[in-house]
Amino acid sequence: MPEVSFVGHNKHIIVPEGTSLLEAARQAGVFIESPCNREGTCGKCRVLLHPGYLAGVYHERGSHTLSAEDEQAGYLLSCQVSIRGDVRVEVPEKGQLLLKIVADGKCRIVKLDPLIEKTFDPESGTTAVTSGGELLVTEIGDTTANLYGVAIDIGTTTLVAALIDLNTGERLGSKAALNPQALHAQDVLSRIKLGSTVEGLTLLHKELLQELNRMIGVLVASAKINRSTIYEAVLGGNTTMLTFAAGASPSSLGKYPYRVELNTISSYASADIGLQIADHGQVCFPPVASAYVGADITAGIMAADLPRLKGVTLFVDIGTNGEMVLAENGKITATSTAAGPAFEGMNISSGMRAVAGAIEKVLLGNGTVAVHTISGACPLGLCGSGLLDTVAELAREEIIDRNGRFVKPGSELFAMWQGNLEVEQGRTRFRLAENVILTQQDIRQVQLAKAAVRAGIDMMLLTCSLSPEDVDRVYIAGSFGAHLQVSSLITLGLLPENFADRVEFLGNTSQSGAAAFLLNRDIRSDAALMVAGMTVLELSREAAFEKIFLKALPFPQLLKQHNEDHYGV
Ligand code: FES
Repeated sequence: MPEVSFVGHNKHIIVPEGTSLLEAARQAGVFIESPCNREGTCGKCRVLLHPGYLAGVYHERGSHTLSAEDEQAGYLLSCQVSIRGDVRVEVPEKGQLLLKIVADGKCRIVKLDPLIEKTFDPESGTTAVTSGGELLVTEIGDTTANLYGVAIDIGTTTLVAALIDLNTGERLGSKAALNPQALHAQDVLSRIKLGSTVEGLTLLHKELLQELNRMIGVLVASAKINRSTIYEAVLGGNTTMLTFAAGASPSSLGKYPYRVELNTISSYASADIGLQIADHGQVCFPPVASAYVGADITAGIMAADLPRLKGVTLFVDIGTNGEMVLAENGKITATSTAAGPAFEGMNISSGMRAVAGAIEKVLLGNGTVAVHTISGACPLGLCGSGLLDTVAELAREEIIDRNGRFVKPGSELFAMWQGNLEVEQGRTRFRLAENVILTQQDIRQVQLAKAAVRAGIDMMLLTCSLSPEDVDRVYIAGSFGAHLQVSSLITLGLLPENFADRVEFLGNTSQSGAAAFLLNRDIRSDAALMVAGMTVLELSREAAFEKIFLKALPFPQLLKQHNEDHYGV
């Protein structure tokens, strides 16, 4: 059988003839982006074939995502190549570096009162482990000192697990990793499609649990404890990810009426879902409000204490799906809007995930471009925050107009930016670095994504008979939110102008909220009550939504001012 060598990774794998190069990389443990789910349309899975190995692969030439020069140089789309002999390939840096993952989130102070308790009985010399007063197991000797839980955020792209001492509430450590499911299908919809087949579901469930078990293994090893002393895991995450964790079919989530079949009322036995903690351990899934307002949002709402906050609070979790919650003196309304993958740097010409080398901040001024990359590495592409910054800066400098169109060649402004503005085949684009460009089409993707979020916010305010001026505070949660600059969000019109002084970034509240569930038993009943009373707006069924969305597409005309948030780029 052919051998595939991944040069630079020092990894080799023997695979049957006919295996795709992308699949070989996956089996060898080499990460390659595949956002289009192997359709051959995104161009992100490119690899470089070493000279002399052309006979080892079969592929069709002519992908529109590879230029003739790329093909000449030996680049191939790994998802479109099948192996027929030995090959040596290199994975370009963009596809292989580790993501910058936001592991921590803010959380309200919770009283230490976990559901899981231990009581030592000196007479029998045994310790009873109980969950909500019900006996889980009796252990020999006094084991009360060893009582742990894990709070896990299962994101579509990333996983975060934190080990918590349930006797003290202390966080003993956390571990972040990529969600291995993303190697097979990057976004939620393609994952639902794959998971709707028996083989796909088995694969996605198995890989997710394997990775979670590995992460727990790392945590217990560094805390020098035994995994059998972890009695509970709480899983935050969107409805689809939790459905996979439970090993249930996600098919009902992919078609109208988007029914949720996951049972989040009772706990699962850890052994039933394959999570390797204590033999009698349990897994809690916080309640979900709908197919697209999941347990990550429930956990976030509880972490941010929205039900008890006075006044009006807007909570936004921006990602491929923008989830929004409006809390008005305890009354909770939530919605979700399909923002598309642009915020994660996907489907963008030079887009990439938030890994070393991704441009995350941009400043334009006086005809010059300043960029800041993750880890200070050479600029390789734009991650979501860099993308929003770039478009906001182009709008602020009036290099694009309200509708996102570039200034015309020949104009004074075009001449001022001639080092960066280029015209290729009649189309203008903006160059930020040697290999990093922004096209008209990319700007359109940003417009569509930001309009989806803004329209969701406006729709919720309208439904609750509120205006932006009524909003007292704005919380932005999620991994992507942590890298954003408020000024860019305002310039783009993603947030109303008057929100500028009331935005707070909360970080990964799906994880911190899951920890709150572990630490305090009452949060479960409070969350169940909150979700039962929550109003979930389905934007597609709101007559006014389309009009509001169209209104949110142009960039607002704001007073041109220096962007102080960019100080230090
Ligand atoms: S082109 Fe190969 S995964 Fe998208």
